[in-house]
Amino acid sequence: MADQLKSFNLALEQLRSGNVVAIPTETVYGLAADISNPQALHKIFSVKERPFFDPLIVHLSDIEEVASVAEIFPPLAKTLAEKFWPGPLTIVLPKRSDINPIITSGLETVGMRVPRNKITRELIKKLGSPLAAPSANKFGHTSPTTAEHVKNEFSGSVMVLDDGPCEVGVESTVIGFNENFSEIYIYRPGAITKEMLEPFAPVFVKMSPAAPGQLKHHYMPNLPLVILSTQEHLTVDLYAQLTSALGVHALYPSWMSLSDEPNLAARLLYEKMRNAVTKSPQANCILLRYHLHTSPSGIDAAIVDRLQKAAKIIV
Ligand code: TXA
Ligand code: MG
Repeated sequence: MADQLKSFNLALEQLRSGNVVAIPTETVYGLAADISNPQALHKIFSVKERPFFDPLIVHLSDIEEVASVAEIFPPLAKTLAEKFWPGPLTIVLPKRSDINPIITSGLETVGMRVPRNKITRELIKKLGSPLAAPSANKFGHTSPTTAEHVKNEFSGSVMVLDDGPCEVGVESTVIGFNENFSEIYIYRPGAITKEMLEPFAPVFVKMSPAAPGQLKHHYMPNLPLVILSTQEHLTVDLYAQLTSALGVHALYPSWMSLSDEPNLAARLLYEKMRNAVTKSPQANCILLRYHLHTSPSGIDAAIVDRLQKAAKIIV
């Protein structure tokens, strides 16, 4: 308890003096900076080795703060925020003109959400300014779901506010709207599913090019991930195909598996990818048997999306 208060105050001090701090959220750990401090915002990009074309998500302590970031708050967006915040839903709205373009990578819109983690909301409240925070990993790599993951990712150079493992495990659902804010577009699937949004308005899945979370190679572990989606067994032919595609003479696989229970599969997805790498120092690939549905429903849509981008080979 006393320790947690101490790290909370230290994190606050770091943010006030323009440094980045890794913060817990219900989805994944974020690498946070005060949105009103341009130098701090630049640090996010340099620490992550992240290109400037990838916009950041702004984290708010409550729904009232939307007015300090977004130009307008249309009724449908407000209804969804009231229903799903605090929670893993990022809502993209037209930005206020005083929002630093480095956050939005020059776009006229900004993504924001109120995370479920209480400590993080308290931190934002005390700081008196929202926090821009992408996932706390090097650009293109697997997102961190524990404080330990963040420490390993940045070799201990970033302060981490530890609040245990993330319960959702995959990044927030990112949504935007059509021009008159009557339809919902899903830019990135997450734990707030299409089915959960449908009662409020027509929903379309629209992986936006303005959402580089949608780049083909993203969420990648430190070993090539091979997914056996349709082929159950490693036949001689398949073995030959894989060795040739990976450019190796023999496969030394580190096997990983995912729970049949979708929420648990999502929660442990990144943890298992990381463990597959660390548990087998001799391995030269990760093998996962997992059927990638062509039209997945519920949170499976998020799992399939992340696996498709993390995978080197899918057979
Ligand atoms: O769960 C999460 O969302 C985590 C935690 C830390 O909150 N954050 C996260 O941030 O996943 P990041 O940087 O890894 O993903 C940000 C993504 C962008 O790559 C883009 O896909 C989308 O959010 N995004 C942000 N602003 C956007 C905008 N204005 N228009 C479209 N997409 C946007
Ligand atoms: Mg990310």
